[in-house]
Amino acid sequence: MSCYRLEVARAALGTTRVIELPALAALSPAAGEAILTVDKFALTANNITYGVAGDMIGYWQFFPAEGDWGQIPVWGKGTVVLENDSGLNIGDEFYGYFPMASYLVVEPVQATERGFTDGAAHRQALPGVYNNYALMTAGNGFDRQFDDHQMIYRPLFTTSFVIDDYFDDNDHFGASNIILSSASSKTSFGLAFLLRKNRDVKVTGLTSAANKAFVESLNLYDQVVAYDALDTLDASENVAFVDMAGNRQVLEALHHHFGDKMVCSCGVGITHWESRDGQPPSILPGAKPKMFFAPDQIQKRNQEWGPQKFQAELSAAWQAFLVVVDGWVSINHRVGRGELEETFQEVLAGAKPDQAFVVSLE
Ligand SMILES: NC(=O)c1ccc[n+]([C@@H]2O[C@H](COP(=O)([O-])OP(=O)(O)OC[C@H]3O[C@@H](n4cnc5c(N)ncnc54)[C@H](OP(=O)(O)O)[C@@H]3O)[C@@H](O)[C@H]2O)c1
Repeated sequence: MSCYRLEVARAALGTTRVIELPALAALSPAAGEAILTVDKFALTANNITYGVAGDMIGYWQFFPAEGDWGQIPVWGKGTVVLENDSGLNIGDEFYGYFPMASYLVVEPVQATERGFTDGAAHRQALPGVYNNYALMTAGNGFDRQFDDHQMIYRPLFTTSFVIDDYFDDNDHFGASNIILSSASSKTSFGLAFLLRKNRDVKVTGLTSAANKAFVESLNLYDQVVAYDALDTLDASENVAFVDMAGNRQVLEALHHHFGDKMVCSCGVGITHWESRDGQPPSILPGAKPKMFFAPDQIQKRNQEWGPQKFQAELSAAWQAFLVVVDGWVSINHRVGRGELEETFQEVLAGAKPDQAFVVSLE
């Protein structure tokens, strides 16, 4: 099996190259290191956002590349194939943050029966959540029939869960209607699922004309409105905006439409990355737009509830989501470098919302 990785030009994500890597047989880990094959991983708009926000948030630093090239991180599964006094066992499988590459060299620290942290020096300044690898055992909460769901949805649904809790915790900021952009995205419909399930608040989905029928078919939103029909929204009620699209035109149009009735405006994603123009944000009527930072709310709940209750609540919501999500989105498996490159371009350009992708490189 040949080993390789996919790199992207950091300033032009559509430009990619494949770099050949030394064969595994030629590798011998240094003391304290382990090598995991990257068996499979999910690709969604979230990964594209890692590239779009790579310089802002430091995503390029996880898996460095040379010069103007970068490696986009993905959520996936890896297996330990080589190790040298690392605390890991050959054959152990881990869920975590990987490059789109045949393998990853890690320097495990704090290895327990639950997982380990990559202690590699270049990752130390980065948020801990991305450096942790979870052992995929039943005892550690992994139901292996849902490996694909874990890598596609879990990072997204966890964010949906935390946003839902943030709104609950703040009495919806007084809004009676919560508006989500990129309503067709997995993070948005996960949030709509939770908002609808947990309480009595109206949920409005904004989407592109091409994705409107899909969003309507989910039956999760009280109303679905295309981006070019924002002026049809009822401006008499207090609204909150959860922005998954990061599209300045949409943001400005909504704030001007609702004025002071916009009581919360919370930036989460940048799916409409091509719409970004690098201009500084304008002063808008209504609540000041601010970025949502999930770790703050997680930390608050861990203090108030304790980590066990937080995990139990998340796990119950996740189980309920797993029951329904396959009715909305089909999972496609893609294999090999040609299909990896095709899938990357497809997701970059905006894949069909009823399709999700799991890629393996061999
Ligand atoms: N801050 C956080 O902690 C956090 C955590 C999780 C996710 N997020 C963000 O949430 C967003 C959604 O991620 P996801 O993985 O859930 O997305 P996804 O399911 O892959 O969403 C796909 C949708 O995004 C829009 N889109 C994608 N590519 C596009 C393109 N090139 N041009 C225009 N629209 C495009 C389309 O929605 P519409 O047609 O409906 O607009 C499309 O149906 C991402 O920006 C992600 O980074 C943030």
